[in-house]
Amino acid sequence: MRDGRRLRGMPARTARTALAVLVSLSALASCSSIAPGDQSARSIHEIGTPLTDQDLAAWNIDIAPDGRGLPAGSGDVATGAHIFAAKCAACHGAHGEGGLGDQLVGGQGTLTSAKPKRTVGSYWPYATTLFDYIRRAMPYNAPESLSADEVYALSAFLLNQNGIVPANTRLDAASLPRVAMPNRGGFVADPRPGQL
Ligand code: HEC
Repeated sequence: MRDGRRLRGMPARTARTALAVLVSLSALASCSSIAPGDQSARSIHEIGTPLTDQDLAAWNIDIAPDGRGLPAGSGDVATGAHIFAAKCAACHGAHGEGGLGDQLVGGQGTLTSAKPKRTVGSYWPYATTLFDYIRRAMPYNAPESLSADEVYALSAFLLNQNGIVPANTRLDAASLPRVAMPNRGGFVADPRPGQL
């Protein structure tokens, strides 16, 4: 009898499964019945929508080591100090000494020691990377929220805190790539074929 009850239970479960499959299939069918180019389909799935040059420009924000891709605008050390205090110091410390976020200042001369400190000043080979990184990733809680002028100013401030540029520096697309980073010569090319 117990076996019989179990057998009688099965068709009901099978029916429920079959119903679920049918519901899913009809949902799929109703999707594919939307004509290509239909606005309602686009707003739900955004599949099949051609990208415009504007869409691509918003996404394609990388900057090459030599400065290709840097936007117009400029910013100086003093302005950067104000922005850093307001938007960065809570995580990186008032002078970039580190806290919740990485240490950004100091560490020069420690790379070959037992406790290397890799900071923007001690480790990064290109100043242009600083602009790219801050613009795309910082502040951590609001990435891509800074204007080009703000990012130039913050780059100038951090480079000045690291003793790399003087306090009266104003940076822009022409001057930022010319900043010589202390560890520029500290990297070796990867000898494997096809590597940089
Ligand atoms: C809410 C905390 C927070 C705030 C605010 C913040 N950062 Fe950061 N920052 C971080 C964290 C966490 C990392 C490490 C991220 C990682 O490794 O993925 C980081 C990494 C960085 C780095 C790379 C450090 C390295 O050597 O790899 C830079 C440069 C930087 N932040 C600059 C800034 C600037 C400039 C601002 C202000 C506009 C800012 N951050 C605001 C948390 C923060």
